[in-house]
Amino acid sequence: MKTFDISDTPAAIVKVFPKASDFFKQAKVDFCCGGNQPLLEISEKKKKKIDIDALLTTINDSYVSWLEAGNKQIDWDEVTYSELVDHILVNHHQYLQNELTPLSQFVTKIYKVHGSAHPHLESLFKKFHVFKMEMEGHLIEEERDLFPLIKQYEETLDPQIAEKISLLNETMIEDHEYVGELLKEMNQLTNDYELPEGACNSYRMTYARLQELEDNTYQHIHLENNILFKNF
Ligand SMILES: [Fe+2]
Ligand SMILES: [Fe+2]
Repeated sequence: MKTFDISDTPAAIVKVFPKASDFFKQAKVDFCCGGNQPLLEISEKKKKKIDIDALLTTINDSYVSWLEAGNKQIDWDEVTYSELVDHILVNHHQYLQNELTPLSQFVTKIYKVHGSAHPHLESLFKKFHVFKMEMEGHLIEEERDLFPLIKQYEETLDPQIAEKISLLNETMIEDHEYVGELLKEMNQLTNDYELPEGACNSYRMTYARLQELEDNTYQHIHLENNILFKNF
């Protein structure tokens, strides 16, 4: 059985073993927008050195147990473009469409009620709403322009369509970098969603849902940048 080593990139590891994203997140290693550098290079560049050997051991141990438990990796290279697009629509776009508006009400509520005692909630409120607006516009562009073109290409294999897709992908990747940066800033503002002492239920729920938003979005961007768009 092949396990992972320091010449592998975080993007390639998460592609085979999606749960590795949890360990990369804990170690603050980017696996989506900047996930295409080998682990060795990442550990050399990081200002705060990370223990890459320990991280790899954790990932490999977890990967082996995951396989032994009968889990099967999805071979994304075998999945058709339409299947991947539909997977993204159901698991990520639909999630955002259901989640962003109710979550906005909670982020607003905790800012209103606790903003004077916890001033960082003002910046969180602002950044979340920039994220929301950007993401909503981004979903429209993918669903209206990009995804139909990808499905059209699958049927026709027309190189002109592939060229259009590749141009659109560049803009989508820029959007991903921007929203990824906003998620990082929100995480820093809240010290990785650390709750203050005596936090009320709304505060707890808002932070838990923001964390879920972060996880879901990193997976979403990973599937688009590192798998779907790589074909064009
Ligand atoms: Fe998307
Ligand atoms: Fe996207």
